Amino acid sequence: MTDRSVSRRVARVEPQQIRRLFDLANEHDGDDVVHLELGEPDFATPEHVVEAAVVAARGGETNYTPNAGIDPLRRAIAERARARGIDADAERVVVTTGGVEALYLTLLTVTDPGDEVVMPTPAWPNPLSQARLAGADPVEVSLSPADGFAFDADRIIEAITDRTGAVVLTSPSNPTGRVFDVSEMNRVVEAAARHDAHVVADEVYHELTYDGTPRSLAAVTDRPDRVVTIDSCSKTYAMTGWRVGWLVGPEPVTAAVTKIHESTTSCVNTPAQHAALAALTGPDGPAREMKAAFEQRRDAVVDRLREVPGISVTPPEGAFYAFVDASGLPGSSMDIAERLLFEYDVVAAPGSAFGRGGEGHVRFSFANDLERLELGVERFERMVRTETSPV
Ligand SMILES: Cc1ncc(COP(=O)(O)O)c(C=O)c1O
Repeated sequence: MTDRSVSRRVARVEPQQIRRLFDLANEHDGDDVVHLELGEPDFATPEHVVEAAVVAARGGETNYTPNAGIDPLRRAIAERARARGIDADAERVVVTTGGVEALYLTLLTVTDPGDEVVMPTPAWPNPLSQARLAGADPVEVSLSPADGFAFDADRIIEAITDRTGAVVLTSPSNPTGRVFDVSEMNRVVEAAARHDAHVVADEVYHELTYDGTPRSLAAVTDRPDRVVTIDSCSKTYAMTGWRVGWLVGPEPVTAAVTKIHESTTSCVNTPAQHAALAALTGPDGPAREMKAAFEQRRDAVVDRLREVPGISVTPPEGAFYAFVDASGLPGSSMDIAERLLFEYDVVAAPGSAFGRGGEGHVRFSFANDLERLELGVERFERMVRTETSPV
């Protein structure tokens, strides 16, 4: 008899490796552990944003909202998208419970069971499990560590077939911090369009780009009807726990997502939508300061890591992570992360948590102050020197 304790769909979802490390870190009772694993800003949500939620809740904004979100927020999101050159209007915006729900509802909308979801890795792995939940099969295209995980349009295009329902492209990338060239990404859009597939452009780190002005994929493509852009308040405004994200895309997709949103969460928490509106339309000083702090930390960490022999790192152009090639050390990336935790009291994410392409690497997050970051890198250096020195 088939075991029906959980559905086959759910059984296909593998536990995330990063969780395993978090669990080990919780059990580990080392002194003065340095946390460099977190995927969220270590800053407080700006005061005017918190205040907007309080005022909304006190003022009685505590009912359900329309499935696609409150109108002023949808308008503000459309305006932000237009400022990035995207042809957007409020009717084609859906406010979701974080970028993660925007991604999931989009994949549910544009794929059928048995379709494939193509994704270059290393990458934040949630879309891979979301694809499985949608009954689709994830297809990973491993980018090459030899060129710092640069975008490889040809290899991604090779993976696109008539079975492809969606291609997920994340730029700036978590974990590598690479910012992909939009014209190269657009070649993928054209290939996807030839096979009636969509490209899901995950741009949640767009505002956290340090070198040059970032460009949105939907702003450069001739096939905006095939591109769905995902964004969120989480990283830009230190609002991870508020859970407000969105998608902007072609009308058939946003209409379908709005329809199924009724079945998943109905709408996003109402005071949180008002907070998001304040984040998008209020003073941008706090977000700029946070970005400047991340940039300073990036420079310090990358400079410091470059002094460590036997490892290498491609300087991240965006997001807040350094993805370090530690393949010269013994064992898998999970073994390396475990030794770093238990022997050196530093928590970092194993590269294998980001798909097949990430093996041999460790991800350090800059979501900690400079002093702790320097201490973490110093301990990592001790580990590298100990493990690579000839005996
Ligand atoms: C690449 C990427 N996309 C999307 C998300 C989802 O963020 P949220 O759901 O908080 O908006 C994350 C969070 O870590 C991420 O790293």
